[in-house]
Amino acid sequence: MLRNTADRYGVPAKLLHWGVALLIFGLFFMGIWMHELPRNEFKGAMYDLHKSFGVLVILLVAARLAWRAGNPAPQALATTSPGQRALALWAHRFLYLLMIAVPVVGVLMSQTGGHPVSLFGGFTLPNLMGKNELLHEGLEEMHEVLSFMLIGLVIFHAAAALWHHLVLKDDVLRRMTMGRPRRSA
Ligand code: HEM
Ligand code: HEM
Repeated sequence: MLRNTADRYGVPAKLLHWGVALLIFGLFFMGIWMHELPRNEFKGAMYDLHKSFGVLVILLVAARLAWRAGNPAPQALATTSPGQRALALWAHRFLYLLMIAVPVVGVLMSQTGGHPVSLFGGFTLPNLMGKNELLHEGLEEMHEVLSFMLIGLVIFHAAAALWHHLVLKDDVLRRMTMGRPRRSA
């Protein structure tokens, strides 16, 4: 139930996967929406909320990687080709990379812009770089480009999962959700 096994993900891995996915979808659309808001107090509050939930993503992905270190992912299904396995492996690696890079760049972007970053108004992150307008502009561009890359890769990843489930009718999606595996690998 808790630990990953050779043919399915355990509960913590599933909760972290779907929790982080929900946060990332929410933050992506929130980012685009809040960027267009008129400059006022409400916009500031939305920026603070976006930043706090973004820092939460860093913490949850770190927890996820730590959990994964002691809980290897289930084995690839016997029905998948070596090419599909390599593609899935690299897609997952890039997803982890972007899940960390997008919020870390967000933190550095805010700090170089002279805006402190806190976790829901509680703990304030140390500012390691100081204010730097040029760096701030570059990081802002980077935050936007990387978040679009992340969502693009997520769409490909979700399409692959649905293709496994609906067309190949195998257990790839089932073992990351609630159902019991239909067939073992
Ligand atoms: C996985 C987490 C995150 C995602 C998917 C995400 C996504 C986005 C997106 C799509 C935008 C709109 C970009 C634009 O139109 O310019 C945005 C804006 C922004 N994000 Fe994030 N973000 C994340 C985490 C963070 C974090 C951790 C911070 C800072 C602590 C942050 C700070 C900001 C700020 C300040 C803006 C507004 C930039 C502007 O108005 O020019 N984000 N984010
Ligand atoms: C922001 C959204 C998402 C992100 C960042 C993400 C990221 C990831 C990562 C990194 C893994 C590898 C887990 C590991 O082995 O440690 C994974 C696995 C998986 N994801 Fe997602 N995911 C997202 C959304 C989705 C969606 C929407 C679906 C389904 C429609 C999905 C279906 C799956 C499945 C089925 C697996 C298991 C693959 C396997 O067993 O080889 N994911 N996801």
